[in-house]
Amino acid sequence: MSDGNRPTVMVTGGAGYIGSHAVLALADAGWRVVVVDNLVTGFRWAVDPRASFVEGAIEDAALIGRVIAEHDVGAILHFAGSVVVPESVVDPLKYYRNNTVATRSLLESAVIGGVRHFIFSSTAATYGIPETVPIREDAPKAPINPYGASKLMTEWMLADVAAAHPINYGALRYFNVAGADPAGRSGQSTAGATHLIKVAAEAVTGVRDHVAIFGNDYNTLDGTGVRDYIHVSDLADAHVHALEALIANPGDNLTLNCGYGRGYSVIEVLDAVDRVTNRPIERRLLPRRAGDPDALVADNSAILARLPWRPKRADLDLIVTDALRWQQHLVERDAQA
Ligand code: UD1
Repeated sequence: MSDGNRPTVMVTGGAGYIGSHAVLALADAGWRVVVVDNLVTGFRWAVDPRASFVEGAIEDAALIGRVIAEHDVGAILHFAGSVVVPESVVDPLKYYRNNTVATRSLLESAVIGGVRHFIFSSTAATYGIPETVPIREDAPKAPINPYGASKLMTEWMLADVAAAHPINYGALRYFNVAGADPAGRSGQSTAGATHLIKVAAEAVTGVRDHVAIFGNDYNTLDGTGVRDYIHVSDLADAHVHALEALIANPGDNLTLNCGYGRGYSVIEVLDAVDRVTNRPIERRLLPRRAGDPDALVADNSAILARLPWRPKRADLDLIVTDALRWQQHLVERDAQA
């Protein structure tokens, strides 16, 4: 490791949505970063120029071993993976390969290379349909789709590996990630979005003509699904704090929900979009989407207690504003192309 206790950080998936924001947060905080991304869903332009970039697969052990040695990597933030829940239902083996098997290989490379700290993108989907909301980290893990199962299996591997080798880990369970870098440097850019706020932003910019509301007969105040939306830049900051905590306490691991502890319904989200633009988008009521729980809200007392992390953009209108600004940028860029 270089710089005393400031190792170089490898960020897998650093060309993707959340990973690119983590690279920004790390570089802003003065960390040296090397990104590994296969660019299947990520974009080379999304990688901050302050980071080194290696195009390749996390399961390519020879490549990862070389990058760890050459860049003196002491910590890995692992974002690379597949994230589309319905796709995981029709192609489960893709999810077990990309999220579980590939991570096993990356972990082996980390152990062999002497990497001391590992932070993993886990998900609220590991809980399945919660018995109680807000959800604590020790709630039952009962994923209802292969995506959640593939991530939970990786959490189990991490616990076993950390018990057997000199490496500690953070498993950060994200709730609904949205928004974009407030400075306009990155945002959600993958085509074929299914996320509510991204879909709504596309409706605002004319990329689509309406937003579907998937069911209004849920057991929630207005009948539409409730989620805990977290700004991607706050989530990126949580990773930087988790990394500092893992370095400071090498005997400790962290399994933490990442959310604000406040839920918003689909209707509340769409109202926020209308409020921000001052122009209503068309809403169409459709039947429920398969596998959607009524409400997913984080109990975030553990992250607030364990890390000095404090949200800076915990406001639905801010999240929507940043998402819209990025969407506008994409539309203008594509118009020039
Ligand atoms: C899911 C996963 C999450 C994953 C994310 C990305 C679960 C429990 N959560 O989040 O881990 O990271 O997908 O793939 O599996 N909605 C509409 N209209 C739309 C889109 C969404 O009404 O056009 C509703 C949904 O029914 C839901 C809410 O909006 O109630 C949020 O949906 P979405 O943004 O797709 O995220 P999740 O399904 O909650």
